[in-house]
Amino acid sequence: MKKGMFITFEGTEGSGKSTQIRAAAAFLRKKGRSVVMLREPGGTRISEAIREILLNKKLKEMDPVTELLLYLAARAQIVREKILPALRKGKVVICDRFEDSTRAYQGFGRGISLAAIDQASLLVRGHLKPDMTFVLDIDITKGLARGGRHDRIEREALSFHQRVRRGFLTLAQKDSRRITVLDTSKPVDWVSQKIQERLERVFGK
Ligand code: TMP
Repeated sequence: MKKGMFITFEGTEGSGKSTQIRAAAAFLRKKGRSVVMLREPGGTRISEAIREILLNKKLKEMDPVTELLLYLAARAQIVREKILPALRKGKVVICDRFEDSTRAYQGFGRGISLAAIDQASLLVRGHLKPDMTFVLDIDITKGLARGGRHDRIEREALSFHQRVRRGFLTLAQKDSRRITVLDTSKPVDWVSQKIQERLERVFGK
């Protein structure tokens, strides 16, 4: 049985996830929680190897279904090798991206049906779902200017990234109990404060 807490951070390119993840982990560690930080796709040897294929800018011809299955394959490995064992030990797992990215990028971005994604996902993660998710929202052009356009996904057209952004916001509306949207064009400290307030409600003062 899962005993820990599973928290995910989501958002479009350059939305400031890394900074906020570091701040949230430091905040929880100060409270005495044992925190594991992971990223997707990645976090295990196999998932990092799959990440290299996924983000390789030379592999332009990748079919959307191939792309979806590679993201899911990377996830199957990290769920079993890292996330579930850590949760069983009562740790707080903070993951930089998870299934909402698949829904936003491969669903809203590439046009694969959410029903198909959700069905395939059941095999990948069973009943595991994030307890809490933060969607960091930023204007697409600002975000891409921050993060650059280096890898295969970052190089996609602006219209693709706009669909992904709308996707995250739609997912957040549909699951507002789990997902909190934060505008990261606001000062970094304001965003961290909002995240800490939400964490405090769950972990206590
Ligand atoms: P990042 O970890 O540097 O944000 O890069 C991961 C890239 O992969 C990013 O462009 C979002 C994309 N992605 C998907 O398209 N689907 C997914 O399921 C995940 C986890 C990431």
